[in-house]
Amino acid sequence: MPTVTSLDVSAIRKEFPILAQQMHGKPLVYLDNAATSQKPKCVIEALTRFYLMDNANIHRGVHELSERATQSYEAARGKVQRFLNAAKEQEIIFVRGATEGINLVAQTYGRTHVGAGDEVVISALEHHSNIVPWQMLCEEKSAVLRVIPINDRGEVEFDQFEKLLNRRTKLVAVSHVSNALGTINPVRKIINTAHGWNVPVLIDGAQAVSHMRVDVRNLDCDFYVFSGHKVFGPTGIGVLYGKEKLLEGMPPWQGGGDMIRSVTFEKTIYNDLPYKFEAGTPNIAGVIGLGAAIDYLDHIGMDAISAYEDDLLEYGTRALENISGLRLIGTAREKAGVLSFVIDGVHPHDAGTILDLEGIAVRTGHHCAQPVMDRFGVSSTTRASLAFYNTREDIDALVAGIQKVKEVFTV
Ligand code: ALA
Repeated sequence: MPTVTSLDVSAIRKEFPILAQQMHGKPLVYLDNAATSQKPKCVIEALTRFYLMDNANIHRGVHELSERATQSYEAARGKVQRFLNAAKEQEIIFVRGATEGINLVAQTYGRTHVGAGDEVVISALEHHSNIVPWQMLCEEKSAVLRVIPINDRGEVEFDQFEKLLNRRTKLVAVSHVSNALGTINPVRKIINTAHGWNVPVLIDGAQAVSHMRVDVRNLDCDFYVFSGHKVFGPTGIGVLYGKEKLLEGMPPWQGGGDMIRSVTFEKTIYNDLPYKFEAGTPNIAGVIGLGAAIDYLDHIGMDAISAYEDDLLEYGTRALENISGLRLIGTAREKAGVLSFVIDGVHPHDAGTILDLEGIAVRTGHHCAQPVMDRFGVSSTTRASLAFYNTREDIDALVAGIQKVKEVFTV
């Protein structure tokens, strides 16, 4: 199998200084990208530059610093719009992360459109952040949460999804890529089918945007959320994309500064999109850092990233499949970035601890997706998750680390 060489990974790795360090005397092998990705120098420099040179509040001052901060903040909105291929900048709402984006939709669109006996459809692959906000909504409204089952590979059962839709369905919310298994959901098909019932669809893209080009107009999704820190940007910043018409019809979520046009004690007139949903001083530096991350990804190219990572995932899958006593959890035909596994007779936390001593960073646990673990009859897995700065050598180090784990447990 030839190596994909369209990415100059050794040059790319130089842009991520954190990767060059030793951990417990071994070279760091960072395979916990689904939890959070590392940041290139340009993102760190954008944050530093903002605080060194441009720090001021936005949309509020006539002074030069405030103008500069506002311009950089709004320029980043345009970058996100182009990154997602959204039709308009007003459709991009800055939030704290994917979780907040989902809660915003549940609390505004959900509360106004979901009533007693209505139904919200999610999948059995969801992260807790795309389960609990809908459970809370359904509890408040006496509505019903329906769950699309998954098969033994960790793929949604599409025929079951079709059967779940009915005239009581008010919203479908599914992940683009599963954080626990890496399954890529057939979101285009899900959206088309839901739209056949006039049901809007929210896509949780937290685990997709770092691995593949996302085009919200081509998908025709109604809402799309992602977190900045998983796409090489800072923590504490995320994006809610929504179709203008839907966002216009939604009540604001939080009240405060910037989301108003005028306030009297008798009546408040709300601001236009996107400000209606951005109450309070936002994470200005985070937005600017996210903009820098998007510039960086544009420079590398999402298609080149996808091709490189597909090759790496296939290499890793073959390598892990060849280890006796190791079971991959999640073997979907369409996958991105995740190798989740269990080893006979070894608790995933012990595996993770031994791997850490070898310099290998992975996540162990239920990955905030307990229903997925239940479906596969395990309480937790060890999860190695990839980014485009990972290499086949990283996978080889993981395989050697797993052999070490097995040695420790066969003594
Ligand atoms: N959602 C993140 C993960 O999957 C934290 O690790």
